[in-house]
Amino acid sequence: MKAGNLKVGIINVTGYAGCELVRILRHHPEVEIASVTGRSAAGQPLGQVFPHLDNMEMDITADLCDELDLVFSALPHKASAEACIPLLEQGVKVVDISADFRLKQADVYSQWYGVDHPDPTYLEEAVYGLTELNRDAVADARLVANPGCYPSSAILALAPAIRHGLISGDIIVDSKSGVSGAGRTLSMTTHFSEVNENVMAYSVNGHRHLPEISQELDTMSDSPVNLTFLTHLIPMTRGILSSCYAPLNPDVAQDPDASERIRQLYLDFYADDAFVQVTNAPPQTKQTLGNNHCLVYPVVDSRTNRLIVISCLDNLVKGAAGQAVQNMNLMCGFPEEMSLEALAVYP
Ligand SMILES: NC(=O)c1ccc[n+]([C@@H]2O[C@H](COP(=O)([O-])OP(=O)(O)OC[C@H]3O[C@@H](n4cnc5c(N)ncnc54)[C@H](OP(=O)(O)O)[C@@H]3O)[C@@H](O)[C@H]2O)c1
Repeated sequence: MKAGNLKVGIINVTGYAGCELVRILRHHPEVEIASVTGRSAAGQPLGQVFPHLDNMEMDITADLCDELDLVFSALPHKASAEACIPLLEQGVKVVDISADFRLKQADVYSQWYGVDHPDPTYLEEAVYGLTELNRDAVADARLVANPGCYPSSAILALAPAIRHGLISGDIIVDSKSGVSGAGRTLSMTTHFSEVNENVMAYSVNGHRHLPEISQELDTMSDSPVNLTFLTHLIPMTRGILSSCYAPLNPDVAQDPDASERIRQLYLDFYADDAFVQVTNAPPQTKQTLGNNHCLVYPVVDSRTNRLIVISCLDNLVKGAAGQAVQNMNLMCGFPEEMSLEALAVYP
């Protein structure tokens, strides 16, 4: 399928993040989707496997074609690093949607993912691709580690408060996710009859996204953050809602106008970011369904002198494929918003 000049490959198009990349890139004026891979669907036409992708005339293959400029990997962790490293060695730019290049320390990666990293030198090189906070580095990168879906919501919610020294002490991030966050492979916990009309906490002893959120918040803070991160599965398909709580520093808490001041600070912090909106009421996941926005709502609980920040996003767009395209746009010198202008589907 021909369109623009940048030849792009997508590894694991048959997963949720992979096919969402095609949906977003389908009408990108600068991109030609030149190659899409998938293990179980290799040899089948993409438009037959995914009719919602508008009968695209290309086949899913087992391997990528040659001469690609940039590849997105949407494989599970470990398999992703093993696929990306040879591409980097051939000079191909890579945006990895898995967790394989997000953590800077190889021992932390082994501890949380249960495998050794195949080449930790790439952990140093990889740029953490939360575009709003790392724009210059992303633009110069050849390897971008696309953030996790929960971390995107938590870090965007907390970054202004931490950078401006508004909060200290324990931070709690309480997050809820729709079921597509767990991927397309069926498991007992994602089975319809287990999820429908049900809500459950999971990974209570530590979700894999915890070290990623801590790592990134630590880079903004004078002292290491002390984070409690709790995740819940809820009966919807897409979306993440994170409620974040932290004690305000005493000088901030004493200000009777703290709530308004903090809101203005958030508005200023994200003033130049098309995809982060500071809302004037608690945001709802439906307000981001299918688009690349993260909605953020800071408010002060004056009874406890805590800052509360509520954020939401679509885990497959701003939390995965949309963020990856935003990074690609910067890496390739295209306008950051290109092909990402879609509004949310509401209701
Ligand atoms: N889902 C999200 O919201 C989200 C958000 C951010 C990041 N991510 C990350 O993005 C990546 C993809 O996630 P996803 O949710 O799109 O995955 P997914 O829908 O669960 O895709 C899983 C599929 O990957 C294929 N696969 C598994 N192991 C493989 C291997 N070793 N080699 C080749 N193919 C393999 C299998 O496809 P076959 O049936 O064809 O074998 C499997 O069905 C993951 O690393 C995930 O952590 C996901």
